[in-house]
Amino acid sequence: MHGTHNRSGCSVAFLTIHIETVKQTASTNADMKTLAEQGSVAEGFWLRAVRQSGGVGRLGRPWSSPEGNLYCSTVVDMHENDPAPSSLSFVAGLAVYTVIRSYLPGTEMILKWPNDVLVSQAKICGILLERVKNQVVVGIGVNIAVSPDVEGRLVTSLAAEGATTGAAEFLTRLSDIFEGLLKTWRERGFAHIQAEWLELAHPVGSMMSTSDERGEKIAGEFAGLTADGALRLRKADGTLIEIRAGDISIG
Ligand code: BTN
Repeated sequence: MHGTHNRSGCSVAFLTIHIETVKQTASTNADMKTLAEQGSVAEGFWLRAVRQSGGVGRLGRPWSSPEGNLYCSTVVDMHENDPAPSSLSFVAGLAVYTVIRSYLPGTEMILKWPNDVLVSQAKICGILLERVKNQVVVGIGVNIAVSPDVEGRLVTSLAAEGATTGAAEFLTRLSDIFEGLLKTWRERGFAHIQAEWLELAHPVGSMMSTSDERGEKIAGEFAGLTADGALRLRKADGTLIEIRAGDISIG
């Protein structure tokens, strides 16, 4: 889908954004994966569900999806010279951060590796990337009106932080910002996105921990990102390790 204007008339260089909303589905990511398998979905298409009956989170966890929040998915085509697909996590995280910031200009917010956005130190969104053939499905959930429980996490929503908007309006802004950042990612490279992300993330030197494949805790200080977006952690003995998957806790 190529053009110079999206449906609402906003100029988005050469890409037409099309948003389709359904009342309910199991998972917008599952639906987008089916479309991608069939080769029948183009970049710029966004699917939103008012509620999901089988929302999926990272690491196979369920994603509680009551009415009132945003549940949406889009696809990104992978071209030969594009940055690593996993780096789209940072594009999505930055896009969500930017839109939330527009509603909450004075609130404490940080980006947390790999794609969390923390508002008042609590989780407000979830991002799930899934590869299908030469496309990446990018699924985004944002707590707009309600803050469903997430095990072991403090959770908040835009409403709880004092912002009034709806999921549809949020997605209009998000799709626009996402497509702009995607253009930057493709044309200027992941390094540019990474630099913007680092400005808004936990500072280098922050103490954090994660667990290895055997569940053993690994702690250290944040030492930046590798060129492809892995987290660098400096352990107390000075060893530098790279983390490519999993969750981290700050502090
Ligand atoms: C996470 O565990 O933090 C990621 C959650 C991703 C949830 C979104 S909601 C829209 C899309 N559809 C899904 O089933 N999952 C993603």
